[in-house]
Amino acid sequence: MSEKCGRGAGRAPRLPGPVLVWRKWFAPLAAEVWTAAWGARFGSRMIVTEEAHRSAVRVDVYPGGRGAAERLKSRFGGRVLRLGADVWWRPQEPRAMPLRIGRKLLVVATAAQAASWARRDRGRAVVWVPAGPAFGTGQHATTRMCLRALAEAWPFRSMLDAGCGSGILAIASAKLGAEGVEAFDSDASAVREARENIRRNGVRVAVRRMDLAALGRGCFDVVAANILSGPLVSHARALRGAVRPGGRLILSGIRPNQSAEVIRAFAGCRLLARRGSEGWVCLVLGR
Ligand SMILES: C[S@@+](CC[C@H](N)C(=O)[O-])C[C@H]1O[C@@H](n2cnc3c(N)ncnc32)[C@H](O)[C@@H]1O
Repeated sequence: MSEKCGRGAGRAPRLPGPVLVWRKWFAPLAAEVWTAAWGARFGSRMIVTEEAHRSAVRVDVYPGGRGAAERLKSRFGGRVLRLGADVWWRPQEPRAMPLRIGRKLLVVATAAQAASWARRDRGRAVVWVPAGPAFGTGQHATTRMCLRALAEAWPFRSMLDAGCGSGILAIASAKLGAEGVEAFDSDASAVREARENIRRNGVRVAVRRMDLAALGRGCFDVVAANILSGPLVSHARALRGAVRPGGRLILSGIRPNQSAEVIRAFAGCRLLARRGSEGWVCLVLGR
């Protein structure tokens, strides 16, 4: 990661503020009526969640600021919540069904599933990541969107997984066929778990404990960072400097109302794709 392949630029960007969400629970029919009337206005800023164990439907809107959130509350009721970073962490259950990422990747949770799907679906690379304390089984929308962006970026030779958690993105890249795959995480237990998952999957990935703040210049074809928007913005220059000109950055862990700020922080990169799912955004930028 010390190889030079370009010059960094830009001034220190402003960090994103807190994430505000207006939330209201509706009866199912009322939710349909409300979303039919207002869905087009809020677009990807609105997330509708139906949970199997509840009869109510949750509508979340990520507004432009506190004023907009309060206006929604005074007009429609509901609550304005200020989300902290901990909303990221959710329990991760083992999955019964494999997760299919396009035509190239399959993510499973057990050794038995890995063996069975490797026989049944020879066209897809099978990634085996059991549920563990480190983030990244493929259940979270951010991981899924990053996996999809990696599959779309294929073919590439080298890849850096910044904030690797379970190592799922690095492992998927190596399984696709990339040869120079590196990964790091600031959390020692995540690094241990990533090493174990790399061994399980029989791939070569160099993984180490490191903070994003220590990231040096690099020449990677692809750099993926599924970290919250705060670190993405404050370390934008370093992340951009780790990608070769013409390479790609895959960024997630971003709320819909934070994506413009993240794009601004990566000034000089081209926006290739912006996708959203379950209240999260994934950006693909070309350097
Ligand atoms: C949401 S998880 C992503 C895991 C995996 N890459 C995925 O996409 O599922 C974010 C990871 O980034 C790590 N992380 C957060 N801030 C970091 C930093 N400043 N430097 C290095 N790693 C960091 C966390 O420990 C965590 O494992």
